[in-house]
Amino acid sequence: MSKVLLTGGTGFIGSHTAVELLEQGHEVVIADDLSNSSRDVVNRIEQITGKRPVFYELDVADRKGLAKLFAEQDIEAVIHFAGFKAVGESVVKPLMYYRNNLDTSLTLLETMAEYGCRRIIFSSSSTVYGALSPCPFREDSPVGGCSNPYGWTKFMIEKILQDAARADEQLSVVLLRYFNPVGAHESGLIGEKPGGIPNNLMPYITQVAAGIRDHLNVFGDDYETPDGTGVRDYIHVVDLAKGHVAALGYAETHTGTEIFNLGTGKGTSVMEMIRAFEKANGLQIPYVIAPRRPGDLAYSYAETKKAESVLHWKAEKTIEDMCRDAWRFEKGML
Ligand code: UD1
Repeated sequence: MSKVLLTGGTGFIGSHTAVELLEQGHEVVIADDLSNSSRDVVNRIEQITGKRPVFYELDVADRKGLAKLFAEQDIEAVIHFAGFKAVGESVVKPLMYYRNNLDTSLTLLETMAEYGCRRIIFSSSSTVYGALSPCPFREDSPVGGCSNPYGWTKFMIEKILQDAARADEQLSVVLLRYFNPVGAHESGLIGEKPGGIPNNLMPYITQVAAGIRDHLNVFGDDYETPDGTGVRDYIHVVDLAKGHVAALGYAETHTGTEIFNLGTGKGTSVMEMIRAFEKANGLQIPYVIAPRRPGDLAYSYAETKKAESVLHWKAEKTIEDMCRDAWRFEKGML
């Protein structure tokens, strides 16, 4: 069992990972500046697991604060979730994105080196594959060609981590490329809480279901896909969180860099998702067909064999589970 630092641990994926780690007997320390989450998430993690993670309200780019955390806690591994993640905002404020996402990662790596912590798991994204190769994306498919600064920060941090591992043979780096995480913990206590107008499909659908927005805009119905709408590999956030527990086990016994896709390998179109949500929850989702969103691909889905054979991890939950759990969480917030 390890003592693990989760940067951005009160966020959507971080909080679910905290729950899975605590349930497997690991110790969890969270560092989060609460810029896109709330302190109450710590209480909710405790409510679910009966264990309270240690919490530091901290910007990971704050070198002194981070050093104090490492001095006080005997951190054995880090899962690095902290970062800005709104694609559209990254196009408008690129410098803010590069400064924040790169600064936090560099400060974290330097502080880890100072305190002899040599295991890091990084929240990367399928967005690094860009439009360079056809689906399914494999871990050895070409990367780059990202359509926005957010995606480029993931690409650059991957590169920084790979170079760091090349220079320090004791360092263990695991890059996890997430596909489209959705859903919520089945308790309904933690989930995705976007501030303002949601950018992503599932939180937008749940807000339409809740009456917060009157309809969904379907961004394009003229793609080269079976029904013309975009196809994505949606993965339940609890499955994704379990993937991190598996990656932590891997990092304990290996050095160097390893990359894993975390997806289901199955594609679902926007229209299929609307229908699945309606069926799972007995609701109607009004929608209109809108123009394509710049930067969107027709298809994105994973080749999942590597995570299955090396991490012995596989996503298990269905689209129906994702729709039901996302709605249960949204309802709980009304
Ligand atoms: C997006 C980002 C990706 C990021 C991920 C985080 C882009 C190009 N990609 O992925 O870099 O890692 O979020 O979760 O922005 N859709 C609608 N109406 C909506 C919202 C979405 O039709 O209101 C469609 C999109 O066109 C797409 C699908 O739903 O076909 C999924 O969109 P979304 O949830 O935003 O995820 P991605 O675009 O795949």
